[in-house]
Amino acid sequence: MIMTLALELHDIQGTVLRNRPMPYFGSYLMFTIHDPDQARELLRRLVPRIASAAAWDNPPEDAWINVVFSHSGLGKMVRDASTIAGFPLEFRQGMAARSGYLGDVGNASPDHWDLPHGGNGFDVGLLVMAGSIELKDEKLSIGHAAVEGLEGVELVARLDVAVPSTLREHFGYADGISRPFIEGQGGDPLPGQDIVKPGEFVLGYENELGVRASLDAPEELWRNGTFIAIRKLRQDVAAFRRFLMDSAPDAMGQELLAAKMMGRWRSGAPLALSPDSDDVKLAKDPLRNNDFRYADDDPDGRHTPAGSHIRRINPRDALRDSLTQTRLHRVMRRGFSYGPELEEGSTEDDGVDRGIVLAIINADPGRQFEFVQAQWINDGDFISQGDRSDPIIGRRDHANDYQYPACPVRKRVGGLKEFTVTRGGEHVFLPGLGGLRWLLDRQ
Ligand code: HEM
Repeated sequence: MIMTLALELHDIQGTVLRNRPMPYFGSYLMFTIHDPDQARELLRRLVPRIASAAAWDNPPEDAWINVVFSHSGLGKMVRDASTIAGFPLEFRQGMAARSGYLGDVGNASPDHWDLPHGGNGFDVGLLVMAGSIELKDEKLSIGHAAVEGLEGVELVARLDVAVPSTLREHFGYADGISRPFIEGQGGDPLPGQDIVKPGEFVLGYENELGVRASLDAPEELWRNGTFIAIRKLRQDVAAFRRFLMDSAPDAMGQELLAAKMMGRWRSGAPLALSPDSDDVKLAKDPLRNNDFRYADDDPDGRHTPAGSHIRRINPRDALRDSLTQTRLHRVMRRGFSYGPELEEGSTEDDGVDRGIVLAIINADPGRQFEFVQAQWINDGDFISQGDRSDPIIGRRDHANDYQYPACPVRKRVGGLKEFTVTRGGEHVFLPGLGGLRWLLDRQ
């Protein structure tokens, strides 16, 4: 039997556990490594400044820098590619090569991506996150100082993220409410928060299969590390607003439809607990706003439709076999908006790039993020809905309608548009701090 140990928080990079500050200000900096020795020098300068997950619930400052590698970048750092031949296939191939399976086709295909991936220049990335612009600038200046004089490490892209003034994501929903509680993280779970084995999110610990999550590679490199699926999704806010207006007769009807598509009112209040009207107090109460299940209270999805975003992406107890059908496919997600808000009430596209950057943490990218993206977001078989996809973020080349139980008859809305389109993505490796030091020693 495997004993679950407390997580070695001091060795895990902070982003795995730290709560997103609110408001938040962040930057994703992406570099190409031309000279691995200079990349090692960059790491040598940076490692002492990298925030760990220690004191994640009460960090000394609300800002952090973390470091990730694409497969190509990690290959350059370890010198001998065979060292990482035992890393997961999805990471080795890179997300662009997985586009067919992930539904990144048509407008969403890698040909249209504007963010570099591991196949065309992204080797090492710095994630900077902060609770104020001043703190972010402070962290960025640490990054600039670390890279100074290192011409062999070239900045190839920068993407800034920040919370819109509404404190909601661009479609108008409150976000960042539900997340799993990692066994061994410390503290207590909130009501309704699922307790998940640590090996689902950090390598070196027991996972939901009852085995120690590990890779066929040197343990010093992967211990306390994990993978992050990074996705840049452009949001067509005008199309989303027009769709709601065209599909519902009045403002109340539009809010209900928006809630039926998400599974929560735009305030964040769950339909499971407040099915008929919004409840702002409930939305803001962390002791109540995630405390629900589906199987007993709402088996047919009369409150929270089976096809809604949150019930697809975390069916909780709704599917028959909770281990194989749900617990093996949990993800830990951080979402950050980029780009300015579309003017309030406007239904005209202003051509400005805006959307969300998701950092989806998982120790097994195939079983977790990729499964969720391909099966739960982009298909409907698992809920007997054929090839219908997620009404908010699903692909539209197979089906473009959404239906949910209503009284007296089922409601069906057609004409769903491509509300989101992928504009970049990569599976990256987030080493533990020990792993970063190990990389430094590969001379
Ligand atoms: C434009 C893209 C997206 C938007 C606007 C969006 C928005 C939201 C919102 C508003 C919630 C409800 C708040 C909460 O429960 O915390 C939510 C929940 C969630 N989303 Fe998304 N999301 C997007 C894409 C994705 C993607 C690509 C994934 C993963 C593959 C994902 C995974 C999740 C998960 C796991 C939850 C929590 C569900 C639960 O535990 O009940 N989302 N999302």
